[in-house]
Amino acid sequence: MVSRVIPVDPFDLVIFGGTGDLARRKILPGLFRRYCAGQMPPEARVIGAARAEMDDAAYREMIGEAIAEFGDGKAVDQDKLSAFLETLSYVAIDARGETGWRALAGHMRRKVVRAFYFSVAPGLFGDLAERLNAHGLTDDDSRIVVEKPFGRDLASARQLNQDLAAFFDERQIYRIDHYLGKETVQNLMAVRFGNMLFEPLWNSQFVDHIQITVAETVGVGGRGDYYDKSGAMRDMVQNHLMQLLCLIAMEPPARFDPDAVRDEKLKVIRALEPVQPHHIVRGQYSADPDDPESLPDYRTAVENPKSRTESFIALKTHIANWRWAATPFYLRTGKRMVARSSEISIVFKDTPHSIFGEEAGRHRNVLSIRLQPNEGIKLSVTIKEPGPGGMRLIDVPLDMTFADALGPDGAENVDAYERLIMDVIRGNQTLFMRGDEVEAAWAWTDPIIEGWTNRGDVPKPYDSHSAGPDAAAQLMRRDNRDWREVTP
Ligand code: BG6
Repeated sequence: MVSRVIPVDPFDLVIFGGTGDLARRKILPGLFRRYCAGQMPPEARVIGAARAEMDDAAYREMIGEAIAEFGDGKAVDQDKLSAFLETLSYVAIDARGETGWRALAGHMRRKVVRAFYFSVAPGLFGDLAERLNAHGLTDDDSRIVVEKPFGRDLASARQLNQDLAAFFDERQIYRIDHYLGKETVQNLMAVRFGNMLFEPLWNSQFVDHIQITVAETVGVGGRGDYYDKSGAMRDMVQNHLMQLLCLIAMEPPARFDPDAVRDEKLKVIRALEPVQPHHIVRGQYSADPDDPESLPDYRTAVENPKSRTESFIALKTHIANWRWAATPFYLRTGKRMVARSSEISIVFKDTPHSIFGEEAGRHRNVLSIRLQPNEGIKLSVTIKEPGPGGMRLIDVPLDMTFADALGPDGAENVDAYERLIMDVIRGNQTLFMRGDEVEAAWAWTDPIIEGWTNRGDVPKPYDSHSAGPDAAAQLMRRDNRDWREVTP
């Protein structure tokens, strides 16, 4: 069997914000897993850079603890951990001043891939880019990785793009949307473009509607300050749900290469129609009546009693092109919902004529692609209910839960960040957003947000552990459709 792990070239990866939440929760535990898997070569070096003063030993200790806390729950191999920690060093740096830059330069080696991960507030992206350049830390092949939020509207995203473009080519800029690193999200492309079965039906003629749900059970947690300035539209729809929609709706690219894929996604975003006010439902979660203290309502959680920011949004949109013009796309995402569940459902049309008569009821094929948890794909097929009693029809799933189909190894879930960081080192931008894509996504998002701000719209309360406000269900019911149940 061909090895599934292909080691990447030796690299120097500098993580600005190296002591931050993302670095400790995701980036470094992810790198450790790639190290254990043999994908990160032992000659690779990771340099944490942040404001705090500390030495290498203290940084290694901090990251060792983070790996124990945020790793995958399996017992940590202590020998491997010590060897991995040896690859780490630390530089105290001032992103806007001069401190630390010479020391950082002293850590960089020649002839290895250089990558700089900006795991910091977007306000610092421009400063970091400028200083990297001023101190001669980058070459033509160096890469920078930037996190979301990439701007909060079109103007700020444009500005960020310009700030980075002053020092880096687009081919050097890796804008992360971690949803693109999820296993099943990539599988969407495999299912669509690796099978003959679906593509002929993948259009308005056969698809009644498409729904995309990303439901979370967590609330805003300790991120109230950030979240209340963003809301679900900026935090989830403009990026993650938009990317899912693109992969579902795009035309087949000529090749599976970065620009061919991103060109097709961009066309989808540019073809999105403006969203009508009555096709939007926003919500804010209320306190859990059973446990009001441990689960505060949204406004308490963000410490803003008058907040009008949404922790839930449902909307209906259309794509103005030949393939999709007559097929609505319903998007829904929220915090503190009844279950953690991300699912895309392609709901096919009724058969043109039922030979079984009215009493057989309405049956539709649904292809549901489950992103998390329990990744898998199900196709519901209508069959005869077994046994006597006439021709009664039922829907049963053709089920391909990856864990069942591929066994424990096949279903081994490489975290999105692990995959994406390895892609940066390999120099593959397919799963990263291009600057024009991000701008197009904001160009669609901005008028929607402006619209509700100008109307003085107040989000509707919804119960924690629910499927969102009733109005969201109505949005579908008005069209004689229903949301799929949010199940764990
Ligand atoms: C992040 C959002 O980008 O994605 C968070 O900022 C959200 O608010 C998270 O919770 C969801 O990611 P995942 O991978 O848990 O679905």
